Amino acid sequence: MRVHVADHPLITHKLTVLRDERTPSPVFRQLTEELLTLLAYEATRSVRVEEVEIRTPVTTTTGVRISEPRPLVVPILRAGLGMLDGMVKLLPTAEIGFLGMARNEQTLQPYTYAERLPDDLSDRQCFVLDPMLATGGSLGAAIDFLFARGAQDVTAICILGAPEGVAKIEELVGERDVTLVLGALDERLNEKGYIVPGLGDAGDRLYGTV
Ligand code: PRP
Ligand code: URA
Repeated sequence: MRVHVADHPLITHKLTVLRDERTPSPVFRQLTEELLTLLAYEATRSVRVEEVEIRTPVTTTTGVRISEPRPLVVPILRAGLGMLDGMVKLLPTAEIGFLGMARNEQTLQPYTYAERLPDDLSDRQCFVLDPMLATGGSLGAAIDFLFARGAQDVTAICILGAPEGVAKIEELVGERDVTLVLGALDERLNEKGYIVPGLGDAGDRLYGTV
C-alpha cells in the first residue's frame, strides 16, 4: 500500500482552521471542499488516461483523455458526502456511487446501512472519500466491498488519519493495489476511538449537529 501524507502550507493552514472548535459548520463545509480539491490533485496522479488526437486552431497534436471505464468516486455517508463536491471539481466525468456506513460508538465496529454501487467494478479505478481514518474499520470494510465487486485499484482520500487506522488498512489490503492520501497523520486515538488532536466528529461538524 502506498501512503501519501500531504505536505503543503495551504493544506496545513486550512486544516488548522478545520480543527479549531470555534469554526462553524458553513466554514467547515467550505474548507472541507477546498481541502478535497487540493488532496484530489495528488490522489488522481495515477488516473488512467489514453492518447487522443485533437486539432488546435493551429495544428493537430496528441493529448490525453481519461480512459473508459470512467473512475468511480465513492463517498462514505454521511461525512464523506462533504468531500464530494471538492473531488468532482477535478474529476467531473467520474461516476459516483454511495456507501452508507456508521460505526457503533460503543463497539467501534462499522455497519453498512446503504449501498448504491455498480454490481460489476471490473477494471474500475475507485476513489473512496471519508474524512476520518480512526480505527480503520469503516474504510477497511469499504475497500473490501469494492474489491469484492472486482475493482482494479482503490485510492482512499482522508482528511485526517490515525497511525492505528493506517496500520489496520495496511494489514488488511495485503498485496492489493491501494493508495492512501491523507491531509495529515495525527498522533493517536483516544479511549473513545477519536483521533487526537483530530477535529472531533466530522459528520456532526459538517452538518451542524453540534
Ligand atoms: C466517522 C467517519 C468515518 C468513521 C471513522 O463516521 O466519517 O466513516 O467514523 O472511524 P473508524 O475508522 O473507526 O471506522 P461515523 O461512523 O461517525 O458516521 P457519520 O459519517 O454518519 O458521522
Ligand atoms: N470519526 C470522527 O468523526 N472523528 C474521529 O475522530 C473518529 C471517528
